[in-house]
Amino acid sequence: MTARSSLTIVLAAGEGTRMRSSLPKVLHPVAGQSLLAHVLQAAPSGPGSRLAVVIGPDHQAVADEARRIRADTEIFVQRERLGTAHAALAARQAIARGADDLLVAFGDTPLISAETFARLRAPLQNGAALTVLGFRAADPTGYGRLLLQGDRLVAIREHADATPDERRVTLCNAGVMAFEGQGALSILDRIGNANAKGEYYLVDAATIARDSGLEAVVIETNEDEVRGINTKAQLAEAESVMQGRLRKAAMEAGVTLIAPETVFLAADTSFGKDVTIEPFVVIGPGVSIADGAVIHSFSHIVQASIGRKASVGPYARLRPGTALGEGSRIGNFVETKAARLEAGVKVNHLSYIGDAEIGANSNIGAGTITCNYDGFSKHKTLIGEGAFVGTNSSLVAPVKIGTGAYIGSGSVITKDVPDDAMAVERSQQSIREGGAKRYREIKTREKKPKG
Ligand code: UD1
Ligand code: MG
Repeated sequence: MTARSSLTIVLAAGEGTRMRSSLPKVLHPVAGQSLLAHVLQAAPSGPGSRLAVVIGPDHQAVADEARRIRADTEIFVQRERLGTAHAALAARQAIARGADDLLVAFGDTPLISAETFARLRAPLQNGAALTVLGFRAADPTGYGRLLLQGDRLVAIREHADATPDERRVTLCNAGVMAFEGQGALSILDRIGNANAKGEYYLVDAATIARDSGLEAVVIETNEDEVRGINTKAQLAEAESVMQGRLRKAAMEAGVTLIAPETVFLAADTSFGKDVTIEPFVVIGPGVSIADGAVIHSFSHIVQASIGRKASVGPYARLRPGTALGEGSRIGNFVETKAARLEAGVKVNHLSYIGDAEIGANSNIGAGTITCNYDGFSKHKTLIGEGAFVGTNSSLVAPVKIGTGAYIGSGSVITKDVPDDAMAVERSQQSIREGGAKRYREIKTREKKPKG
């Protein structure tokens, strides 16, 4: 059997006013990526599958995000917000080009999975004209109700239009639908706006299908998968569900999470084998952690690659562009940014390493700071292999420390240091024999009570 082609339309024209934010609703993040990105990544992909996103006016940022996820996403603008069917029809040109299956999903429902999209499409192969994703709502208030006769879907009633009897129905419309592609446009075109809100409701497709003698069926899923996000509180609930999934997947892949509920992951975090993550670690987007690495407590990591058997933290902050080589060690109160540390490098205490490259097996002493910013631009610090940077050194970039070079503690290094050279930049130490004793005597005399 040849694979069926598909067009998925994601509706994202909502203003999201209840988020009380200047950011468009679908660009709010869950597990380090936008709501929209989650939906687009779950939508059917591969040969023969197309994507379209319907955005509101002035939502260029939403279009950019959609194209970032999938460059060939078609963008349509819904100029007036006249309802979900009206929004779907904003993508009329894409629908008219034809596909075996037409899917419509909401951009504010980020927990939907690829398997559910596949389940929704399956009945279309067996003659159904429409499938609707349903769920049993703990509290159905506000949702459209799925009205069945036997196992046939005969209507979807919006809460505002429902009778008291219909409101007792707990099987609700999740919002995701799949149409058999040939007939989809004629169903959508017949949807009117005779309802409490005067909007063009996608849900009316069910009744139109029934009236045309076509089969409409419901596919059930659980409520967690179809949580729609309208408020910051719902955003936090979705985050919690997503984190639960990510932690479980990480542990199933062999990651040791000592206290999983305290570890925050991103949707794209990747792990090797035998990785351990201690309690209270936050991992943002773009992080990969290789085999055998250990992340100690209270570390915060974003856009960084952590090499095999590397050790990070406790209390480390790895910022974007950090790359740690095999067996390298980042200790407590160390911050790194755009820093490449080769195998075996140690930065064990209280350092800032930014815009730097450090060769294998170098040791960076406690309190070493790369002074990468002069108030106008950023400059690089290059350190060769096997170098030793003494405690409390300031490396004023641009500067180069040679292979095997040695920097005396407390130095402010402003000039390049050749290979195998020793650089010390500090004033001579002076010793006054008996000086401490004399000093104490003077001070004791001064402190004697007057009188
Ligand atoms: C919708 C469903 C309801 C279902 C619920 C599930 C309809 C008529 N109602 O109600 O049956 O139980 O979702 O969460 O479909 N949108 C546009 N343009 C518009 C209107 C909406 O793009 O003109 C987009 C929104 O951005 C959103 C989605 O469509 O992503 C759903 O709209 P929303 O207003 O949230 O519908 P609900 O009232 O939640
Ligand atoms: Mg909604």
